[in-house]
Amino acid sequence: MKPSLGRWARWGWLITTIAMGAALLVTAWLGRQRARAVTSTLNRGQSMVLFESVRQQSRAMTEPPDRAQLDSLLRLHQAAGLRYLAFFDSSGAVIAQAGEAASAVHPPARRPPGPPALEQVGSRVRIWGFTALAPPPGPPQGRQPARARPRLNFLMEFEPLVAERLASEATQTFVLSALVAAALIAAAVVFWRLSMKQEATERRLEQQRRLGALGEMSAVLAHEIRNPLASLKGHAQLLAEHLAEGSPDRRKASLVVTEAERLEALTGDLLDFAKSSPVDLQPADPAALVAACADEVARDGFVIRAEGAPRVWRLDANLMRQALTNVLRNARQASPEGTRPEATVGRSDGSLVLTVRDFGSGIAPGDEKRIFSPFYTTRTNGTGLGLAVALRVVELHGGTITAGNHPDGGAVFRIAVPAG
Ligand SMILES: Nc1ncnc2c1ncn2[C@@H]1O[C@H](COP(=O)(O)OP(=O)(O)OP(=O)(O)O)[C@@H](O)[C@H]1O
Ligand SMILES: [Mg+2]
Repeated sequence: MKPSLGRWARWGWLITTIAMGAALLVTAWLGRQRARAVTSTLNRGQSMVLFESVRQQSRAMTEPPDRAQLDSLLRLHQAAGLRYLAFFDSSGAVIAQAGEAASAVHPPARRPPGPPALEQVGSRVRIWGFTALAPPPGPPQGRQPARARPRLNFLMEFEPLVAERLASEATQTFVLSALVAAALIAAAVVFWRLSMKQEATERRLEQQRRLGALGEMSAVLAHEIRNPLASLKGHAQLLAEHLAEGSPDRRKASLVVTEAERLEALTGDLLDFAKSSPVDLQPADPAALVAACADEVARDGFVIRAEGAPRVWRLDANLMRQALTNVLRNARQASPEGTRPEATVGRSDGSLVLTVRDFGSGIAPGDEKRIFSPFYTTRTNGTGLGLAVALRVVELHGGTITAGNHPDGGAVFRIAVPAG
């Protein structure tokens, strides 16, 4: 069957939506990664600003700062995230401090070389710096060298507020994108499943409509053929009886009788196929039903296994008998001399399961569905209605019938009927 436009549209829609969802997710993820990468640059920039600001102010001092001066410095930079500030003398002893340090502070014995070093301490960033105070006041004395500027180590801790906000916004965007992508994909999958269901329903309705039309036509034809056929057969029988035994004319008259009987069987099949009475589900013993159908087809012609069979199942026994005899008869017809097809009755996933396996040549590959079409036959005397009837009966029970081949050869038919 050619894939319909609807199917392409459905797949196209599903794939496009999944791709869009994935793209959204990847973009948001990359954005988040980039924001994280930028945070260290931001932290460094912010620390340099704070560092330079504190250093500038300390360079204006002639005396080491006291607690009040550090408090006011801390307040000045509080909004920028400054949380702790401390100055140390050359021996590493604290001169003054403001705020609370994130953890114990161990000042380096010497001036840290190079640019200020950043260190992450919990949620804070810690910076060690080095500064020189302004020279003590007093006029320069002659050629004496300028007075030494007292040198001090200092420590700052700040909360990287800007970087944190950036990272948390990027995470929020990522989570939001993930939710949107998930909703998009879920909606696409739901739409896809609904449209699959709808297509299956439409297909089934169309098939039922076609079968219905075919059934109606068959019923009219069968009905119209029946009466003239009965009179044809009756007269041919009478004629044969009047003709001399063993004469060529009697053989010809008998042939008419045989062919008329074949046509009679066909009209019977057609009427069975056309019957559209509603199913009448009644408690029935499925194992007994299978045994009775097997006997009807060929006494002792089957091996029946019914160990796992449920004792009762709601079935329309008359209809199910039609389905089973057709499948069993096919199995007998396909079986080589000396083999007995096997029929099993059991239960699986809450359904009654009946299987019929034979030891014949099996179903031709690719024919597994086609053999259920009305009038499809490969037998010279077949009408091709047996499996079409079986399919209709099983579907009327809300069940399924499938055909396949056994790995060791031979056809296997499986009928599953849900609890009704
Ligand atoms: N057990 C089987 N092994 C192999 N082929 C099978 C088997 N059962 C059915 N088939 C194939 O399926 C076709 C259709 O079967 P179906 O019973 O509908 O019609 P039929 O047996 O040909 O005629 P009738 O209407 O008289 O039953 C058969 O002609 C045969 O080709
Ligand atoms: Mg058949």
